[in-house]
Amino acid sequence: MPKKMNLVKKLHQSFVVDKISNTKWENGTSNPLIVELDTTEACDLACPGCISEDIMKTKNRFTNKRLMEIGNEFYLGGVKGVILIGGGEPLAHPAIGDFMKYLGERNIHIGITTNGTFIGKYKEIIAEYSSWTRISMDAATTEMFGKLRPSKGGKSKFNHIVENMRQLAEIKKGKLGYSYLIQTSADGDGVVSNIHEIYQAAELARDIGCDYFEVKPSYQFREGVDHALMIHNKEFMEKAKNEISHLDDLVTDDFEILKAINLDYSLAGKQATQEKEYTTCPSAELRTLVCPSGAFVCPYWRGKDHMKIGDLNGVGFLDMWRGEQRKKTMSRLNPSEDCTFHCLRHESNLEIFYMVKMIENDEKIVTISEFDRFI
Ligand SMILES: C[S@@+](CC[C@H](N)C(=O)[O-])C[C@H]1O[C@@H](n2cnc3c(N)ncnc32)[C@H](O)[C@@H]1O
Repeated sequence: MPKKMNLVKKLHQSFVVDKISNTKWENGTSNPLIVELDTTEACDLACPGCISEDIMKTKNRFTNKRLMEIGNEFYLGGVKGVILIGGGEPLAHPAIGDFMKYLGERNIHIGITTNGTFIGKYKEIIAEYSSWTRISMDAATTEMFGKLRPSKGGKSKFNHIVENMRQLAEIKKGKLGYSYLIQTSADGDGVVSNIHEIYQAAELARDIGCDYFEVKPSYQFREGVDHALMIHNKEFMEKAKNEISHLDDLVTDDFEILKAINLDYSLAGKQATQEKEYTTCPSAELRTLVCPSGAFVCPYWRGKDHMKIGDLNGVGFLDMWRGEQRKKTMSRLNPSEDCTFHCLRHESNLEIFYMVKMIENDEKIVTISEFDRFI
């Protein structure tokens, strides 16, 4: 069977158990362990149906100077890992090479979600310092890539990216992933179905030397619609199920197939709602999202003003973290009402509540040594 991530196990690593044990939960954490960082809200591609379409209208980015300062603030603030993501294209930031090196040299682990167009430019740094690099591909051919992930001028950079992935695969220390967002015409003007290329793309991923291939469902991002799965034509979903059912044939000791959370709901044409009985989010105390337009509770609330916890333009990271705006937003946040969508951190939250109870009762928590900082 294609694998799903085991986030609960990651919470039992000693550095996380220490953090959970040493936190006064009524006050929140003194710092998060993991930061997702949008270095820029601009992108060199123009993908139809992109979930960040609105965010990218700002084209904001941190100045080079501020980005490097933020790196230092993460370091001094006890951040253990940074995910470079968007918003826009994280590797399009002009200071990104220096920034990755800065973090890597200070043993802050790096994960990257990228469109891949700049991986050639930063190959050596990525190979050395990135724990995982996931390239958003969504296609198996240059033609399909040109339709779903065109550059601003309309050209397909598929061959360029595939060639750079091959080179990166040869020298990387971390994992390399090939991400495939299932799309159909329901995803918006200019979007065509890429379902018939799923299997072929997974074959290509393995041939390139990727460590994994991830299949993901698409989301709606209309105003007022938060985190609803896109509903596709039934026939398309039947075809997708068929393509996905053969992916296991490709698994080897060095190549995994990953299924994103909610994929099964999407294939079944159902919305994935998830009831929650808790009223605080401990995961959002251990991880956070920092963007040029502000810092937010988590990626589900990227760019949403009522979920803003501060702004790193002109304010230091820990000052923001311990500041009034975050306090207010976190005390207003109520997952039982705000987060009725299927959240990737739900099981993590339940486990943290359980661990906190055990600590209060002086019971011993199962603790394992560090194997993956990206909780
Ligand atoms: C918005 S991009 C930003 C990072 C980088 N530029 C990239 O292409 O990976 C982040 C991820 O969002 C995914 N994405 C874009 N539109 C989406 C949608 N409508 N629903 C779900 N995911 C989407 C992309 O597949 C990509 O993996």
